[in-house]
Amino acid sequence: MPKITIQDFLKKKAEGKKITMLTAYDYPFAQIVDEAGIDAILVGDSLGMVVQGLENTLPVTMDEMIYHTKLVSRGVKNAMVIGDMPFMSYQTGVADAVRNAGRFLKEAGASAVKLEGGAEVADQIRAMRRSDIPVMAHIGLTPQSVHRMGGYKVQGKTDEAAGRLIEEARIAEEAGAFSLLLEAIPLGLAKKITEEVSIPTIGIGAGPHCDGQVLVLHDVIGMFERFVPKFVKRYANLKETALKAVRDYREEVEKGVFPSEETSFK
Ligand code: KIV
Repeated sequence: MPKITIQDFLKKKAEGKKITMLTAYDYPFAQIVDEAGIDAILVGDSLGMVVQGLENTLPVTMDEMIYHTKLVSRGVKNAMVIGDMPFMSYQTGVADAVRNAGRFLKEAGASAVKLEGGAEVADQIRAMRRSDIPVMAHIGLTPQSVHRMGGYKVQGKTDEAAGRLIEEARIAEEAGAFSLLLEAIPLGLAKKITEEVSIPTIGIGAGPHCDGQVLVLHDVIGMFERFVPKFVKRYANLKETALKAVRDYREEVEKGVFPSEETSFK
């Protein structure tokens, strides 16, 4: 099977087929996500919280994102790898945005990038598009704006806020985004945006009417417990499985059961 491209994203929307996306941050999990047939892997700056143990995503650096994107790219055969632009890698201007987005493609094996925002980053999206860097925009709850938003809250709840998000979606499309991530917005609003734009929408906490869905892998497999948003569905509890394995190992070493004769050299 050939690598998934942005054309496949557009084709899926046209054919009414759902696009699947998950995050991953390293080689072994990227292999699992790819082998399971997921269309796209987002190397999200959520790694700051689920891998680095940070309070929010703001401290994550470009070099860290490049490092993790390289690990993911090595584990992938088919999925599209999308690098997430960290806080202050694109807000500071168009030249910074293009230079940093280019690093994901040039150094880390990604075929697209994602940035947070719509209207306020339209110039950056336009410039990336001119540089042949496919870009996904991200509107609704944008975690890099946690301080302005006063927390991780559902967005677009009033008519005025909903209207603003529809306008943001149009601007992002007009600027040249190939896809639009919608985070934590009411399902009716996500449906409306999905119908209004010709580019695919990928939802997280945005209901079932988006063209595709994304979740944070560590939420899906039960590896992150600090908080579980309402929109998450946990499909496994790997933390419990890993904890049991490590406890069993400790007990066997303490009792002298491991290593046995079979696991020893003669
Ligand atoms: O950083 C991230 O993982 C994200 C999520 C919304 C998928 O942006």
